Amino acid sequence: ARKIIIDTDPGQDDAVAILLALASPDEIDVLGITAVAGNVPLALTQKNARIVCEWAARPDVPVFAGCSAPLRRTLTTAEHVHGKTGLDGPELAEPTMPLAPGHAVDFIIDTLRTHPANTVTLCPLGPLTNIAKAFEQAPDIISRIQEIVLMGGAYFEVGNITPAAEFNIYVDPEAADIVFKSRAPITVMPLDVTHKVLVTKPRNDAFRALGTRVGRAVADMTDFFERFDKAKYGSDGAPLHDPCVTAYLIRPDLFSGRHINVEIETGSELTLGMTVADWWGVTDRPANAMFMGSVDDVGFFDLLTERLACL
Ligand code: BDR
Ligand code: CA
Repeated sequence: ARKIIIDTDPGQDDAVAILLALASPDEIDVLGITAVAGNVPLALTQKNARIVCEWAARPDVPVFAGCSAPLRRTLTTAEHVHGKTGLDGPELAEPTMPLAPGHAVDFIIDTLRTHPANTVTLCPLGPLTNIAKAFEQAPDIISRIQEIVLMGGAYFEVGNITPAAEFNIYVDPEAADIVFKSRAPITVMPLDVTHKVLVTKPRNDAFRALGTRVGRAVADMTDFFERFDKAKYGSDGAPLHDPCVTAYLIRPDLFSGRHINVEIETGSELTLGMTVADWWGVTDRPANAMFMGSVDDVGFFDLLTERLACL
């Protein structure tokens, strides 16, 4: 199984991404979960990550708290999408598993240094603050990374928190800039992909029909998420952004894209956090990311529902 660190700001879709990973032990070995401030403040994201581990009956997975604010900016949160807990929808019990001792950034650095080179994959599902901090503190770890598979950015779909920018990149554009310039191998799940995996009513019913605690929790979360989204976009259901990352680790064949140059806008106020993606190859800037553009959404939901049934 592929060894991964999930860096996350749960977030209902983050929660589903984590559950999919924990439900897939043949393909994915979750070494640890590192929480970052994003959808809601750090005090909630680290707590939510522990709640999700307990849903999966995996209190043994270490959950670390990381950065509480972006590198150089004040935190923008998204309670308007995720509710005030970040995980609105299901009933939330106070987690009993403790937070792992130490800082998330130190866990990322130590894990990459102590495992053989090219055997650990980073899976960022929120702003890239923890990852960029780790790169700044320990540049030697960059060449040891197997791959970074992240949810963030957009090209044709442009933006969701501003007209030009996707939330994860917008919240900490300087961190995203560090990561995209790092020369680590990067695979990106942008809005172009995630807006194609929509939780329609029948898909939500299928989660609930699992008849398990996890099935109900996922149905309750995607119900909440959907109400928001339908009102705003009139779309068929909530986009499951972050689970695209963990689905890719299990079934890369479900996704396709292009290996292209992606640069992050950190200057302009109007387009701050935009992923300037050279999809048509109109510059000679070197490719630094595999930027996904399409997904087999039926295959994605078959996989997700089948795996969640195992928890
Ligand atoms: C991203 O932002 C967050 O709200 C979601 O959890 C996802 O990671 C989508 O833009
Ligand atoms: Ca997220």
